[in-house]
Amino acid sequence: MKILLRGRLLDFHGDPETDSDSHRWIEDGAILVEDGRIVASGGFSDVDASDARVVDHRPHILMPGFIDAHIHFPQVQVVASWGEQLLDWLNTYMFPEEGRFADMAHAERMAEFILDEFARNGTTTALAFGSSHMTSVNALMGAAEARNMCLIAGKTMMDRNAPDGVLDTAQSSYDESKALIGRWHGRGRLRYAITPRFAITSTQDQLEAAGALAREHPDCIVQTHLSENRAEIDYTLSLYPKARDYLDIYEQVGLLSPRLHLAHAIHLEDREIERMAESGARAVHCPTSNLFLGSGLFAGRTLEQRGIVSAIATDIGGGTSYSMLRTLAAAYDVRQLRGDKLGILAGFHKATRGNALALGLADEIGTLADGSAADIVVLDPAATPAMALRAERARRLEDELFILQTMGDDRAIVETYVGGTALKGSAMLNDTVSDPYA
Ligand code: GUN
Ligand code: ZN
Repeated sequence: MKILLRGRLLDFHGDPETDSDSHRWIEDGAILVEDGRIVASGGFSDVDASDARVVDHRPHILMPGFIDAHIHFPQVQVVASWGEQLLDWLNTYMFPEEGRFADMAHAERMAEFILDEFARNGTTTALAFGSSHMTSVNALMGAAEARNMCLIAGKTMMDRNAPDGVLDTAQSSYDESKALIGRWHGRGRLRYAITPRFAITSTQDQLEAAGALAREHPDCIVQTHLSENRAEIDYTLSLYPKARDYLDIYEQVGLLSPRLHLAHAIHLEDREIERMAESGARAVHCPTSNLFLGSGLFAGRTLEQRGIVSAIATDIGGGTSYSMLRTLAAAYDVRQLRGDKLGILAGFHKATRGNALALGLADEIGTLADGSAADIVVLDPAATPAMALRAERARRLEDELFILQTMGDDRAIVETYVGGTALKGSAMLNDTVSDPYA
């Protein structure tokens, strides 16, 4: 069955920060979808709509679905945990919570919730940490497969400095990661990410096991954390006294490559910046998390100028919103605090094509080009009374996008299509959350 989506169309084929020709904007546009893929797009009168069901989304904006480049699936019920900075926050709230994901029924309920929440927020792909238990990955992957979603996730590898209930061993983490890769990597739209949590919770043996997995599976993404918080860096260097710096710990086990996604990367030494640029390792900016945990201000412009590819992410549960619109707003604020600017088009590029490029998936997602997946978000820049009032004064596309970014959240998401299927408005989202006051 063919579906034709009609609306105002925006996507990117270049980076607005560096390319003079970066995007396509069509006031009366259309996207033709067949078997979950985009088969044509352009002006409404140019796209053949014969035998297609037409869904008229005018005057709303059709864009590629948002991509969240870093989230922690087992932290959904401990978002908004008060008062601590990174290490105490992990020990007090996150590690005990993640222990609950050994239970399949719990993991399955949380998986339904997070994927529904993605749909509410226009997020069509995420790169996710599971807990250290295989159950968490099985639950999340299974739920994503049922929605035909492009999801990348991995079991967290962690064998020290955390409670027993979330610890594995170097060997078991290798074996379980390997089994999960065999089960899920490349199945439908799913991919596996090799996921050592960070150097504090991994022994040298475990990081070497992660390095071995990365060598044995050269098409798997690798994700971990780097230099988020000063106390974290000090503790890390005390655990690895021979390392030249934090990044060197990952470098010595062979993890540096364009497949490596380093969440946070805030407090970097000059050598680390140089090696990240040379190796192609990605930095993942998580602005709401960095502000909430008081971690610091990501040096986005500097890192880009030094040749580092960066991605942008919510980092739920350190992050405070599932919305990539709220995340862009926080990224803008962080740049302001650094005396810098995040361009309006540049932000929307980051949340779509930019993140797809960082993940090595730009042919598949982050674009409305022919042949790519029909992962599409429909946005309403006048979604709330305050936004509608402000939008009366909007003159250009950029004005509307900046209203969406600055004032928008899940209410501005009219619809989210995953593989051509409407998951937000037209379909009922699962009601997995009970009323706590009932
Ligand atoms: N570093 C290691 N684990 C985590 C985590 O779960 N959240 C954040 N924000 N940083 C981390
Ligand atoms: Zn994280």
